[in-house]
Amino acid sequence: MDGRDLVRSVKAIGSAGAVQGLRTVRAAWRRRRSDATGLVARGAERARVPGPVRDVEPGPGGGVVRFDRTELRITVDVNGAVFWGWDGAVQEPSYALAGRCPEPDPRAELEPDKDGGWRVVAERVTVVVSRHGAVEVCTPGGVMLRRDLPPRWWEPVGGGEARWTQRSEVAADARFFGLGGRSAGPRLRDGTYRLWNTDPGHAFEPGDDPLYITMPVQMVVADAGTHLVFHDSTWDGTVTLRGGEEGAGSGHDRAGASELRMSGGPLRCWVIVGTPARVLHAWAALTGAPALPPAWALGHQHARWGFGSEQEVRRVVAGYREHGLPLDAIHLDIDHYDGHRVFTVDAEHFPKLPDLAEELRGQGIRLVSIVDAAVKAEPGNAVYDSGTAEDAFVRDAAGRVVDGLVWAGESVFPDFTRARTRAWWGGLYEERLAQGFAGFWHDMNEPTSFVAFGENTLPRSARHDLEGRGGDHRQAHNVYALCMARAGYEGLRELVPQERPFVFSRSGWAGMQRYGGAWSGDVATGWPGLRASLSLVLGLGLCGVPYSGPDVGGFDGSPSAELFLRWFQLGAYLPLFRTHASMRAGRREPWEFGDEVVEHARVALIERRRLLPYFMTLAHWARRTGAPYVRPVWWGAPENRALRDCEDAFLLGGCLLVAPVLDPGVDRRTVQLPRGRWYDTVTGKAYQGPGQVVVDAPLSRIPVLARAGAVVPVRGADGGLELEVWAPARGRTGGGLVVPDAGDGWDEPEVERYTTRWEGRRVVVERDGDGGPVEPAYPVRVRGLDQD
Ligand code: GLC
Repeated sequence: MDGRDLVRSVKAIGSAGAVQGLRTVRAAWRRRRSDATGLVARGAERARVPGPVRDVEPGPGGGVVRFDRTELRITVDVNGAVFWGWDGAVQEPSYALAGRCPEPDPRAELEPDKDGGWRVVAERVTVVVSRHGAVEVCTPGGVMLRRDLPPRWWEPVGGGEARWTQRSEVAADARFFGLGGRSAGPRLRDGTYRLWNTDPGHAFEPGDDPLYITMPVQMVVADAGTHLVFHDSTWDGTVTLRGGEEGAGSGHDRAGASELRMSGGPLRCWVIVGTPARVLHAWAALTGAPALPPAWALGHQHARWGFGSEQEVRRVVAGYREHGLPLDAIHLDIDHYDGHRVFTVDAEHFPKLPDLAEELRGQGIRLVSIVDAAVKAEPGNAVYDSGTAEDAFVRDAAGRVVDGLVWAGESVFPDFTRARTRAWWGGLYEERLAQGFAGFWHDMNEPTSFVAFGENTLPRSARHDLEGRGGDHRQAHNVYALCMARAGYEGLRELVPQERPFVFSRSGWAGMQRYGGAWSGDVATGWPGLRASLSLVLGLGLCGVPYSGPDVGGFDGSPSAELFLRWFQLGAYLPLFRTHASMRAGRREPWEFGDEVVEHARVALIERRRLLPYFMTLAHWARRTGAPYVRPVWWGAPENRALRDCEDAFLLGGCLLVAPVLDPGVDRRTVQLPRGRWYDTVTGKAYQGPGQVVVDAPLSRIPVLARAGAVVPVRGADGGLELEVWAPARGRTGGGLVVPDAGDGWDEPEVERYTTRWEGRRVVVERDGDGGPVEPAYPVRVRGLDQD
């Protein structure tokens, strides 16, 4: 949202646009002024590199290597994760880590390497430190996965935060993924990516970068192996990626390169090596198990900025019912607030929200509320008054409360990096619960403040508590939304201890999955936006955030019926399946697009509902193992280069491969299959992977293929759980997992494991029991038999 956009939107909602326009200019001017006085100029800088190695001090899991001008601490942990920190940096404190660090591996020891270097040899990884401070991460077989050149610091001569640069090399064939939610992925091409959570100010398209969620987390996939690297610094930075090139014939390889430039913070990093599944598992162990959404949040959710009244909500809900379209949640945007003030209700248009909520709940539909981060600065606004009494709002270097401009007008920003402020904020959800809301949609939390030019966030000099350590916005910005998510999540846990909170957020950082999910923000309506929305979900999943999804149909403008339908069909296979759009955009109710769209949208919705037990299983599995529901097709075969380059299909869990239609006018498409037999779930036709096949993609559906041998838990016609089994190829076996839904509480039911195999002319399905295989307790339907 930029100044122009704001003026336009303010006009659209009927206020004085010119006045608001002026205010954005004033807000920008104030921000600049406070930075000018609040930030000390860096002045002259001195560059530093580690220098030659001097001595070492072995310690648990590794030890300390001392150089002339710095020291490096290395620890290999029991789960195979490697930590290293320069200049005395240790693992904590960290906003990303979930709790206590893993234990150092007692068998990993620092030992001399060739040429005066040192190394730590562990079961899954070897780390080699050269005499001048290059750090190599190798497989146990000695193949190099990553080589960090000696880092370089620039220190202000007059004291202050050091900037630093870390250059790294990876294999020539390596592919980069991750860095949070990026629009031009999932594979990250050559270019520079900024690490600074940003509201782009307009509906984004592929290439708009950065967006709302950035993270210094890279997943690197090469023939030699997969690794994840996380640089645990919250400061502003950039990552420049350049893919390598393999030498033809006798030519030399050119390594792939990544250069990280950070404006501050410790230079410390984690590297996890292994299969993609193992890497994500260790990452989730480090940064926290993903929150488990309640079952209803795995259904279809419908939002609109501008329902405008309770009657309109009822009308839309009735529309869903009359058209036979299942619906699980309605999201109310800022138009239901009183004057856009967070934690209030417009009593004129939403006079009986609790009654509406109860009525909807009777129909199995939950109400979700938007929760904006900023608070209207206006005495008499109860949230402002109580926040002021708590001293909850961010101040500038001179001690004045920082104000900005958001939807409600002049606003102030809670300092979520302070425990007391989080506790105060968490308590405010009580008002939302009393209104009948069951879930929470965090917004504008990069944080965003509209300005007419420059960066639309808080002044960089704004002060933050940072858990008592103190610092400015340069350090707090990227974790602002993460801390807001924590405030909401912990508040809700206290207010409704028996239920799992449902929170999802526009912005966030490494570890945000502990508190909830994400959505892709304001994606532009258009075919490129559709593609971008898949890129974000895949990228976030590889950074440990398994629950996310786009605004189906795009945020702005009016999609064609075909684009809307294709987006809807994709959304039906993404964790967060939500239609939403701006108040200036066209409607997103399926019937707005004609009968044909309604008919096909119904098929997608009914299939989503049928797959609910599968989604629930994936949610539990993500919680236990960190594996995202939506996985790149190379998940099980990262060594397959064709799969590594495939960006237009994904695996939904271990059983299904979804091949969305991302271009107009398509009724057939190619699909890059991983190894094995795959069945088209509608026609039952079998295809053989690995390799490329052409499948039908009529307007009525997108191709979804099932892996031979898969066991997919589905909802039967009577609502009970059933197992849909896809026949293994002859002579092969298969299997699957089921985690039955245990309600919206905290129970974590046992994982049921099933295997499938041929016995004569029959496919046998068994559950692993304590004393051996047992008969499944659910009805079983075997499909794909006629393809044998
Ligand atoms: C932001 C959000 C969008 C929301 C709008 C109004 O643009 O990203 O989802 O509808 O604000 O609250």
